[in-house]
Amino acid sequence: MFDMLARQPDDPLLALIGLFRKDARPGKIDLGVGVYRDETGATPIFRAVKAAEKALLETQQTKSYIGPEGDAVYLDLLWSLTGGNKTGRAVAGVQTPGGSGALRLAADLLQGMGVKRILLGLPSWPNHASIFKAAGLEIVAYPFFDVPSQTVLFDRMVEALDGASAGDAVLLHASCHNPSGGVLTSLQWQEIAAIVERRGLLPLVDLAYQGFGRGLEEDVVGLRSLLAAVPEALVAISSSKSFGLYRERTGAIFAVAASQVLADTARSNLAALARISYSMPPDHGAAIVRGILESEALKADWMQELDGMRARIQTIRQSLAAGLKGRWPSLAAMADQEGMFSLLPLSEAEVLRLRADHGIYMPTSGRINIAGLKTSDVDAVVSKFIAL
Ligand SMILES: Cc1ncc(COP(=O)(O)O)c(C=O)c1O
Repeated sequence: MFDMLARQPDDPLLALIGLFRKDARPGKIDLGVGVYRDETGATPIFRAVKAAEKALLETQQTKSYIGPEGDAVYLDLLWSLTGGNKTGRAVAGVQTPGGSGALRLAADLLQGMGVKRILLGLPSWPNHASIFKAAGLEIVAYPFFDVPSQTVLFDRMVEALDGASAGDAVLLHASCHNPSGGVLTSLQWQEIAAIVERRGLLPLVDLAYQGFGRGLEEDVVGLRSLLAAVPEALVAISSSKSFGLYRERTGAIFAVAASQVLADTARSNLAALARISYSMPPDHGAAIVRGILESEALKADWMQELDGMRARIQTIRQSLAAGLKGRWPSLAAMADQEGMFSLLPLSEAEVLRLRADHGIYMPTSGRINIAGLKTSDVDAVVSKFIAL
């Protein structure tokens, strides 16, 4: 009966990886894939991850089942890293297969609670809309970022949130907005928190790049001011980028509530949803994160390496902004954007021309992964863009 199925289109970003691989030109450059790359083009394993893995190999006593909630110690440590513990809010979490698993459990929970709609600022990470739709939620889209002027459309965001109905959910990127790099100021976060509280909305915050923006603490300032102001929230965390654990599928979903009883009830529902889907989360990545965060020495080393990655991204950001603003004055704003991504104001034809003529790969949206560039390639790439 498989002939009843329609063939699904390839995920455009995954298809781009395939095209890049097939390109035999030696100087080709991949600005598409959403992983951190170092100066050699590698996606490195953190030193602290290797050390924690070694320790695990020697000390781990069992591979027995861990339970749908996952490891409570990992969850506590991860929550502390967000500073969520400092808000004094009641919270309960469940370990998940990556940030995607966290978002899917959150979406299923919302649907089960009777939430019908979720507000989503566009553009966003494409999987957001797919996950929410798959869970049966209606997406209420609003424009979040204007590519030609490189500005966050904060007025449009406020208008959308203000026009929402009590009981609607709203997806918020904690920091390092994917794909735009657009930044919300602390004051804007406070304004959002006040509207969310006033309108009775339920925020779902996606924290997938902590440490890649301004710093581990700075990247959760908005999240913390939101948590201080709203009665309830869901926070989906991915450890994929922050710990470089992409394929280990490591993440968590936290429910913040007005009382511990309510938070625990939310957790029991999240765990029940996990049980009927994948049963229990993979644990190797979470055990590594736990090993790092439990050890002062490993944590310090991890933070140092993360600081280095962020600094590399910021340096290349500055160079790109300086080089590209001559042709596109609005791209001066790239220097103040954050995280791995920015959205260039290129037409589809220009993106395809860069690919065909120069082996420079990015999706047709014009999103570039700044970490995909080596410092030594920046000038050459800038000149190719300018000559478009
Ligand atoms: C904004 C955002 N959220 C969540 C995720 C999910 O990450 P993962 O499922 O790999 O942990 C990603 C991955 O690219 C992302 O960009």
